[in-house]
Amino acid sequence: MFFKKIDFAKYYRFQGRRISKKLSPTKVELYKKLFYQYSFDDEIIQYLESKKSDFDLKNKHNLKKTIIEVGFGNGENLIKQAKLNPDFFYLGSEVFVNGIINVLNEIKNNDLKNVNLSQLNFSFLLDIIKPGTIDNYYILNPDPWEKKRHHKRRLLNRENIIKIYRTLKKEGSITITTDSDSYLNQIELLITLNSGSFDFIQIQEMKAEDPLYGSTNYQRKAIANKKKIYKIHISKN
Ligand SMILES: C[S@@+](CC[C@H](N)C(=O)[O-])C[C@H]1O[C@@H](n2cnc3c(N)ncnc32)[C@H](O)[C@@H]1O
Repeated sequence: MFFKKIDFAKYYRFQGRRISKKLSPTKVELYKKLFYQYSFDDEIIQYLESKKSDFDLKNKHNLKKTIIEVGFGNGENLIKQAKLNPDFFYLGSEVFVNGIINVLNEIKNNDLKNVNLSQLNFSFLLDIIKPGTIDNYYILNPDPWEKKRHHKRRLLNRENIIKIYRTLKKEGSITITTDSDSYLNQIELLITLNSGSFDFIQIQEMKAEDPLYGSTNYQRKAIANKKKIYKIHISKN
């Protein structure tokens, strides 16, 4: 369960909140009962401990694509996509316990067979994923950490973007959305400085007709506050 993290606390540590609302006993029970049924976190920790970096999610399923959503929040987009594409495998990465429980509930209620979850800090998970094995990443409105002194906490720093790209298959892609101008500028700058490292990059303001527009809580908050949302698409040939 989530207290198991005590054993390997370093792999769960991150900057931010882990629980927002107090969890009811029913939710704690659901978590205890289901989390390890839908997670490879124990195995991932073994990889991290033994410094292996060839964890291949393709060995875990027989589906057509392997897709990772990082920081899925309440899991709305993850569940919607998993229902729409039962022949794709989804790994959801999230440190926020309320979000994990929400998704476990959805998995159970909809009898979904194509979703798995990780509660580890994604930066660690990223270290063990075998290069060339992931079709798509979705990172929708990552924590913006707007104050300049907090920029170093941002998930999408140079190191992580390059590592994520390395794990992509040929024709794989990374889709990022953000409503933070300064995060967008940081990503644009690191892409420009490392342009030789990526095959194709597109950055544009998200249009209302984009299927991802308003697909998550944070995006709807941005829309309600009349903020622009940007979409960054990086892909491999
Ligand atoms: C601003 S919220 C966006 C949530 C959702 N994608 C949305 O658009 O509504 C960012 C999410 O990323 C999660 N997160 C932050 N750092 C993370 C990390 N290192 N690994 C996994 N999830 C992380 C947070 O817990 C939070 O739920």
